[in-house]
Amino acid sequence: MCGIIGAALRRGNAAAEVYEGLERLEYRGYDSAGLSVRTDGGTVTVKRGGRVANLKESAAELCGGVAIGHTRWATHGEPSDRNAHPHVAGKFSIVHNGIIENYRELKDELLQSGAEFASDTDSEVIVRLLDKYYSGDLLAAVAKTVGRLKGSYALGILCEDFDGIVAVKYKSPVVAGFGEKGVTLCSDIPALPEWVTSVSVPEDGDIVLISAQSASFYDGGLQSVNRVRLPVFAGQFNGGTGDYPHYMLKEIHETAATVRDTCDAFFRNVDVKRLTEYVRNADRIIMTGCGTAYNAGLAARRFFSDKCRVFCQVEIASELRYSPVHITGSTLVLAISQSGETADTVEAVSALKEAGARVVAVTNCGYSAITRVAHMVVPVCAGAEVCVAATKSYIGQLAALYLISRLTADVFTARSELLSAGEKIAELLKDNGGADKIAEICAESSAVFFLGRGIDYAVAVEASLKLKEISYIFSDGYPAGELKHGTLALIDDNTLSVIIICDESLSEKCENAACQVTSRKGKVAVITCLDGAADKLQDVAAVWKIPECEANLSPFVSAVALQLVAYKTAVSLGRDPDKPRNLAKSVTVE
Ligand code: AGP
Repeated sequence: MCGIIGAALRRGNAAAEVYEGLERLEYRGYDSAGLSVRTDGGTVTVKRGGRVANLKESAAELCGGVAIGHTRWATHGEPSDRNAHPHVAGKFSIVHNGIIENYRELKDELLQSGAEFASDTDSEVIVRLLDKYYSGDLLAAVAKTVGRLKGSYALGILCEDFDGIVAVKYKSPVVAGFGEKGVTLCSDIPALPEWVTSVSVPEDGDIVLISAQSASFYDGGLQSVNRVRLPVFAGQFNGGTGDYPHYMLKEIHETAATVRDTCDAFFRNVDVKRLTEYVRNADRIIMTGCGTAYNAGLAARRFFSDKCRVFCQVEIASELRYSPVHITGSTLVLAISQSGETADTVEAVSALKEAGARVVAVTNCGYSAITRVAHMVVPVCAGAEVCVAATKSYIGQLAALYLISRLTADVFTARSELLSAGEKIAELLKDNGGADKIAEICAESSAVFFLGRGIDYAVAVEASLKLKEISYIFSDGYPAGELKHGTLALIDDNTLSVIIICDESLSEKCENAACQVTSRKGKVAVITCLDGAADKLQDVAAVWKIPECEANLSPFVSAVALQLVAYKTAVSLGRDPDKPRNLAKSVTVE
């Protein structure tokens, strides 16, 4: 989704601060960007279609103490200069993250009263309403405006009559950051400037008056409210990609450390006794998330069925929200989300909590929306994940879920098993030449299928998402046993089937799948940690033998191997693996 940022500074140039913030926020959307600055000569707004870098030159000419900025993931109105934020009307300039669901009705009303629109966006109705309602009382005009809106919105607002920023939050993330240079607002914590040392998180409905000295919070009824100040380690993005060409490769190489750090945090920060009670007393466990987070749950289901005597189901959050599930006070919901801001997940889990379930958030982002819904948070300690494609956060989610699944059995043994899996990842990353050959075949294929049985099926689903979202090659991940029930019809000499074989007990069946594919002239690649499978299939397939690993721990290694395959494929096709087309890192709208 979009990224918004603002700065009200005691010293320094807010235009430069906001421009640098947009560079850090670009992973939230990169269809267009813009900023508004309060200069000595009045508010100046510059905005461009395309990447943030297109703003660099014009932004460098601006100077002022207060500014707001926006990087866009288009939902209403194509990516273009005219649809870029900020949107301006009268004394106001605004940036918006979210969707105004009733914008058509509001736009018609405004057009009938003579307003002229400069864009095709839903967001522009906000600034037009502000202009309509403002007659000197800023808070009242903002309250009246947001009172008309339906949907989700995080707003940054400049007004010529106020030497600061007005922020508004409703079902879209925004935080206020505080530090020695002044006060900033930002869509998420990892993208805050490194001088920020503490944050306050507005509640839904809050209106915040931000000046260079402080921030005043008001609820929807314009009553002053207090929002706690939390210490924060900002500047997580400042390392850039380091020695790596892309964030994705850098973050793949941080997967082993993520396992270790997630294990450490689990035993340091989690109320293990209370969480164990949640698991032990659960009548069932529902894991839910979207995309890769859902796929982590798919793999983790095997962890729970292996060692935990509780029925466990995995649901896609956008489906779960609208499907009836029987919830009791003993139902345990594990809400999996890297960003903690995915609207589908937050809304689904909020409904289950409302129905009486116990909610545990498994997330990489503290203070995120999901942490405010949950009764407890199990941290994934992957650090800032900039690449839109989830890599280290998926591995961290697996580690956290593995530990939760073993709480009622032998959680300390589980910790040492995870640390050894981390060593296997490091071993793989030292010698990953096997990815090149498979990536080469992927790149020349019309479609790439990933298949496996048992836990390898769960990894196949994630591998397929990884490949398609950054290489744009059609891909599907499915149970190897299903090959003969339909997908075999798609197999021809242009397709590649990547078979994942890491469970000895299911190896022979998967080897048969390889033969079924080759008998239809399909290309086959195999990723396996089993010497036997590698030897048997090396004449009919491109085989990558990865480090030996016990079946239930194999996703830690096979998934990283397949992340590398996806990365190398995308790069060989000239794609940007960090900012794939049409996508954004955190989808804060339904
Ligand atoms: C995965 O590579 C994608 N970035 C996407 O599927 C992502 O996993 C999904 O949007 C969920 O995001 P979350 O973990 O932040 O909730």
